[in-house]
Amino acid sequence: MAIDTRPEPARLRIAITRALPEAVLARIRSRHEVWVNPEDRVLTPDELQAAAARADVLIVTAFDRFDASAIARLPRELRIIATYSVGHEHIDIAAAGSRGIAVLYTPDVLSDSVAEMAILLMLGAARRAHEGAALIYDRRWTGWTPTQLIGRQVTGSRIGILGMGRIGRAIARGARGLAMEVHYHNRTRLAPSLEAGAGYHADIDDLMRVSDFLVLAAPSSAATRRVLDAARIARLPPGAIVVNIARGDLVDDDALIAALRSGQVGAAGLDVFNNEPRLDPRYLELPNVFLQPHQGSSTIEARRAMGEILLAGIDAVQSGRAAPNRLA
Ligand code: DGY
Repeated sequence: MAIDTRPEPARLRIAITRALPEAVLARIRSRHEVWVNPEDRVLTPDELQAAAARADVLIVTAFDRFDASAIARLPRELRIIATYSVGHEHIDIAAAGSRGIAVLYTPDVLSDSVAEMAILLMLGAARRAHEGAALIYDRRWTGWTPTQLIGRQVTGSRIGILGMGRIGRAIARGARGLAMEVHYHNRTRLAPSLEAGAGYHADIDDLMRVSDFLVLAAPSSAATRRVLDAARIARLPPGAIVVNIARGDLVDDDALIAALRSGQVGAAGLDVFNNEPRLDPRYLELPNVFLQPHQGSSTIEARRAMGEILLAGIDAVQSGRAAPNRLA
């Protein structure tokens, strides 16, 4: 076995804007000098700048915004912004790049965990898991009846996946386990080996038509904001089930809520929302909605791997090597 004789990269000053799981923090502390936001809340823009002032590297979350003006204010010493997320719409990558600040993120390592959440939401929404749990926990259940909480069978139905990146493909793998017919839309068509028999729809409207279950798995961008609006919802098969594990801003809440009320959309499973954590309160009034609090990547396996991929990226940037998870 070859022995790695490269010197350990120097310890960096790393400021972390939210407490990470203890195992992840311990790994980062073993390699670097670490400051962690001691409070259980998102830092204000001024506090973010203050954290950056004491650091070579900032580890941030998807709720810390770095637009061009925030990037312009960062101290010259800051070398890396590493986001503990796969989503990176909160960072102006071009602005960071033009200031010579490297940006790292966490692709791939959380795809299976997020895909599990999509499957959970699909099943939970279709099988009325929220109403069933409420029946028991509210002590209202009086026993089995042939008409109790009749839902929809997922097995054998059609799934439309909007966004067939790594997470979308992991969802497709799970859906095939339920004998679902997989359809997708992506900006570019996948190679046959990645498509694995899924039907490609170049036009999003066309995907709507075949989606008994529509799963939103595309990143937030100018092109995807409000991609699910009233016109697209009207194209779904009546009673379709909508799942969102991507970002809340892909959905026009007024349109989805109206469709859930009318039955045009039979049920929804949502893990992400506009304006988190203050989601539209109308969702809470709807029995046909199965909600989770942005939990997609919340497994110890994903959380640990997210820490490792950021540490590896930081090492690579520090020693001038290419990092596969580097955006700028
Ligand atoms: C991600 O990784 O983007 C998750 O949504 C958490 O921010």
